[in-house]
Parts: sequence; C-alpha cells; structure tokens
Amino acid sequence: MTLRAIILGAAAGGGLPQWNCGCENCNLARSGHIPAQTQSSLAVSPDGKNWAILNASPDIRTQLGSTPVLYPTGLREVPIQSVLVTNGDIDHVAGLLTLREMQPFTLFATQSIQDVIAQNPIFDALNASVVTRAPISLNQTFDLVPGLQATLFSVPGKVPLYLEGEHVETELVGEQTVGVALSAQGKTAYYIPGCAALTPELRARLDEADLLFFDGTLWHDTEMVQAGLGQKTGKRMGHMSMDGPDGSIAGFADMKIGRKVFIHMNNTNPVLRPDSAENAQARAKGWTIGQDGMEITL
Ligand code: MLT
Ligand code: MN
Ligand code: ZN
Repeated sequence: MTLRAIILGAAAGGGLPQWNCGCENCNLARSGHIPAQTQSSLAVSPDGKNWAILNASPDIRTQLGSTPVLYPTGLREVPIQSVLVTNGDIDHVAGLLTLREMQPFTLFATQSIQDVIAQNPIFDALNASVVTRAPISLNQTFDLVPGLQATLFSVPGKVPLYLEGEHVETELVGEQTVGVALSAQGKTAYYIPGCAALTPELRARLDEADLLFFDGTLWHDTEMVQAGLGQKTGKRMGHMSMDGPDGSIAGFADMKIGRKVFIHMNNTNPVLRPDSAENAQARAKGWTIGQDGMEITL
C-alpha cells in the first residue's frame, strides 16, 4: 500500500443539508432520499497507521467519530500526526477549535494562512506547547507524515469571505489558496478543494497524476442564483464550475489522470442526487462523485 485517502466530508461549506436551506437537495437529504454529506475534509496516509487531515471542517468531530482508523490508539494518543489547511475559509479552519484538548500535532499551512489563523486569538485554544504551527513555502516538498511527502502550490482563488473588502479579486494567485501534491513511493495524488480557473500551469502540473480530488462546488456558475438562493455566482465565490466550455469536466477531458474525484460540492449541485442527469454525465466523463466515507487506495 502506498497512499490511502478517505473523504471525511464531500460537501462544501454549509454541508448537505445546510442548516438554513430549503433547496431541493437539502430537503431530499433531510428526508433521507439522498445521502447527506459533511463539510470539506480528506484524511490521507502512506501506511494506514499515520494519518494527516487535509482541512479541518466544522464537522470534524462527527467525521472522526465515523472513521475507525482515526480512533484513539491509547489514552491520549491518536493516529493523526498533522493537519494541513489549504485556505482560511471557515469550512477549512473552524474544525481546528475541536482539535484542542492538549493533543500534539503539527499544523501545516502557508505563511499567509498561518497569519490569518494567528491573528484570530480564538485559535490560541490550540496550545502552542503541543501544537506546532509550521509555515510552508510554496513549491517546497515536506514530510506531511513519515513516508508521505506533500508540496503546496498556488491555485487561483480569493481571500476568505470574512476578509473580503470592498473590491474582491476572485482569481488571486498566491499563498491564500493552495492545492496539495501528495506523493508516496512513486504515486502522486492531488487535493484541490477550491480553484477559480484551470490555468496552463495547473494543467501541466496535474497531467499524469494517479489521483485527483478537485473542486466540485457548483455544476453551473449561476446555479445558486437560478435556485433563488442569492446573487453569487461560482466565479464570485472563487470556484470554477463542472459544466460548460470553461468548466472542469471539459478542462480535464484530454488529460491523463488515473482517477478524478469531485469533492467540496455545494448543496445545490445536482450531481449530489445519484439519479440526476448531471451525475450520470459527470460519471460518463470519467469522474467519481465523492461521498463521505469513500476510500481510495493507490
Ligand atoms: C468557499 O469555499 O467558497 C467558502 O468555504 C465559502 C464559505 O466560507 O462559506
Ligand atoms: Mn469552502
Ligand atoms: Zn440547499
């Protein structure tokens, strides 16, 4: 075994159902007609013993409770060595608060994201005597857990919602939104839960990957507007959509990638209904629709 990945949460911020949402999908999930999904997180391991959590979602307590390989192995011992966050969004950092309780681990993120976390004193609940905050430079490989290397690289995105000013740049390229390259014994996987555009650089990087977890927030850029849920398009939220000529399904169609998995799906996305035409269309194009608890081993 070289690389094990478990989708802890397949949904975007809000989850499925989202607490205040009465859209079709949320109602179907509430009534048990389609599977509910928790918020954005992935667990990865090179050996099934040592694990890293990629993004700490507000649902992490439930996610850890339903994932036996992550259960404590001793009185105050867990198989989780590290936590990495790919941006400062609430769905990716709020779960850090659940990870207090004097539990040692390393928190990996770029310096910019570390700064966002450091500027909010509530995260001092992660006691500095046990939680090491490690700033990671872009494009520099480091040991995420022993035997599993990771490299952070910038992808187009925006600052977190709570740091948006008057004018929002939605395709910033820098340290605020990153993807993660994972490698173990010659196998490569990529985790990119938020991405505003598929740039030539990103295409070149991802070609010939063995496994890709990619931003599946929306099916269509205007789907939330059309559903009457607000004015925001996917682009305004810093997410490219699945459908359309500049969407991810078309963008990745001619690339050599072993396995492509959509994650971080917003509750309005029709692919979350297993019997929808969009779900069938995405699968016909070679995509797997991520689900809570889904495990992929390379
Ligand atoms: C996003 O992915 O666009 C954000 O998580 C939105 C949010 O913070 O709710
Ligand atoms: Mn998100
Ligand atoms: Zn909804």
